[in-house]
Amino acid sequence: MLIKNPESVLPSEITDERTFHERRRLMRAALIAAGAGLAGCSSETGAETNAAAPPKARELVTLKTSPFSTSEAMTSFHDATHYNNYYEFGTGKDDPVANAQDFKARPWQVQIDGECEAPGTLDLDSLIQPHAMEERIYRLRCVEGWSMVIPWVGFGLGDLLKRFKPTSKARYVAFQTLRDVKQMPGQRYRVLDWPYREGLRIDEAMNPLSLLAVGMYGRWLPNQNGAPLRLVVPWKYGFKSIKAIVRISFSERQPATSWNQSAPSEYGFYSNVNPDVSHPRWSQATERRIASGASLFNSRIKTLPFNGYGEQVASLYTGMDLAKNF
Ligand code: MTE
Repeated sequence: MLIKNPESVLPSEITDERTFHERRRLMRAALIAAGAGLAGCSSETGAETNAAAPPKARELVTLKTSPFSTSEAMTSFHDATHYNNYYEFGTGKDDPVANAQDFKARPWQVQIDGECEAPGTLDLDSLIQPHAMEERIYRLRCVEGWSMVIPWVGFGLGDLLKRFKPTSKARYVAFQTLRDVKQMPGQRYRVLDWPYREGLRIDEAMNPLSLLAVGMYGRWLPNQNGAPLRLVVPWKYGFKSIKAIVRISFSERQPATSWNQSAPSEYGFYSNVNPDVSHPRWSQATERRIASGASLFNSRIKTLPFNGYGEQVASLYTGMDLAKNF
């Protein structure tokens, strides 16, 4: 992954966050009126129109904030949507916002297959409708050394996986991003072996922290953040959080994953955030937080084991050598 100085994206933050809190207050009020977990509508005429948001963004009304949420200062909507890693749209941090705007995230289908009793191909609405949406404010730590705090909207990955009745052979879950070189210009270049692939052990996938996100900041996911459906696994480096998912496969064997295939000595299958295990080319002990406060003073903060989610997930790795299984 290319490293670029994140400091160029910092100024807009404090105002955005205040606006964001106001929007959340209004969304909750709207929700009580709607009485539903999920509602899509145009924002242009909405009472809570946010000047920082893209004009075509649609609103997502969320029911509750998950107890897993952090109360740390959030990254601004602007920074979270203008400083991205999404190689299908280019390798620069500002390429995704520039190149993903015409991407068609609907209609969208997701194929579920492999070791399960009820495989199938579902359109996005049938896939997400049975699930109550919640907001989860998670830290996301990129392997390159920066981190953000983002209010995602989504539902537990495990709840979705159970609907397809994984068999006892389903020890892993594999994910694939869309491959469509016409829409994703970065796929013309073999920086990775397309389509982008990721995977989790089944117990990791079933852990309540694993999130399938359809939105962020109370809105449907912007294209550059992985619309219409992405994974968010907050105790792992950001590259595990695969975007624009079109296929989910249960498997007996550990699946191949893009970054691991591309540079196995640098990016392991597990990729749990671990300040004690350096990347071969840099330390992982600290991170630059892109959020109001910390980043304004250009400070670095200590990276925590499992990105601070050890209480929820450390037991998944009992007895494992995490330096070997990095
Ligand atoms: N998913 C796909 N399909 N392609 C990518 O290039 N980049 C990953 C991950 N998911 C990536 C992807 C990396 S390296 C990171 S750090 C996160 O997305 C960044 O998510 P964000 O841009 O929403 O912050």
